[in-house]
Amino acid sequence: MIFNKKRTLKRLTAFILILVTFALLKIYVNKFQEVKYYLASAPVKNVVEGTEKLDSVSPPFIYLTQTEQCLPSKLVQNLQLNVSSECQCEVIVLSYETESQEESPPHFTYLFDNTTTWGSGRNKLFFHAVERRLDYIYYIFLDDDIALKFNGVATSAMKRLSPIRVFQDWLLDYEPAVGVVDYKLKREAKTVLHRRRTLCNRYRLVNDKSLANPTIYFDPLLNAFHAKAVSHIFPLDTRHEKVNWWLTDKYVTSVVELKFRGQALLFFPVTVENLLHRPYPRSFY
Ligand SMILES: *[C@@H]1O[C@H](CO)[C@@H](O)[C@H](O)[C@H]1NC(C)=O
Ligand SMILES: *[C@@H]1O[C@H](CO)[C@@H](O)[C@H](O)[C@H]1NC(C)=O
Repeated sequence: MIFNKKRTLKRLTAFILILVTFALLKIYVNKFQEVKYYLASAPVKNVVEGTEKLDSVSPPFIYLTQTEQCLPSKLVQNLQLNVSSECQCEVIVLSYETESQEESPPHFTYLFDNTTTWGSGRNKLFFHAVERRLDYIYYIFLDDDIALKFNGVATSAMKRLSPIRVFQDWLLDYEPAVGVVDYKLKREAKTVLHRRRTLCNRYRLVNDKSLANPTIYFDPLLNAFHAKAVSHIFPLDTRHEKVNWWLTDKYVTSVVELKFRGQALLFFPVTVENLLHRPYPRSFY
């Protein structure tokens, strides 16, 4: 083989140029994404703005959940819901078996309906919350059998607070259309961060300290919907619930992807686990 020094040098130069261009492009794309997040979190109007308010003082968060009778104290403690000034929240609970007789703090509201399903129950909660015409910023729908904890991504500064406080602070900071956390069974945070590092950032060109990533497929255990987005997602389509309750949350992820592509963010540092599994329709046919 004839060794052509000049040509080799040319090729080498071209290769180095391509590498440099690629690196610059990568940095540019990262910057662009930051700008995109910034735009996504630009000041937004509340869905109920313009309508007459019943009460001008409204906390930023409304928690919406369903349970047999009374909200389990485990959940109240894990999410620190019992002091309204601390959780900056109000809570609406739909009891679907027995009416709650328990004395609850003033920021708690109990509804009762024993004819609802998972999806129609969430719809009932949605309508009740919207009809209050308050300035909530996030509508946080959750199942009553969950618990939040920090995972390996959480920093020591975060761990001085509770998982739910860190999640709430992040919501107000980023204002995603939909905010979800890592799900214990899927371990998305670990997987996504690992892929970002090995596939997208193989040469460590960028110091990847991301706390979140867009997601297109998430579990409904704990979903925070921005006030500006919630009425574009709810009410849920519950037509298929006789067959399979899982189809209703697939409706949620589909609508969110179609209407808010890239604006559903998964917050890495907090993991949600599902402590209880109740029987419900889950046939695939
Ligand atoms: C809230 O929960 C904490 C800890 O579980 C408890 O000490 C406190 O008394 C509760 N406060 C109210 C208002 O229920
Ligand atoms: C639903 O609740 C009502 C009022 O408490 C009661 O009369 C009715 O029997 C309940 N229905 C079912 C299916 O549990």
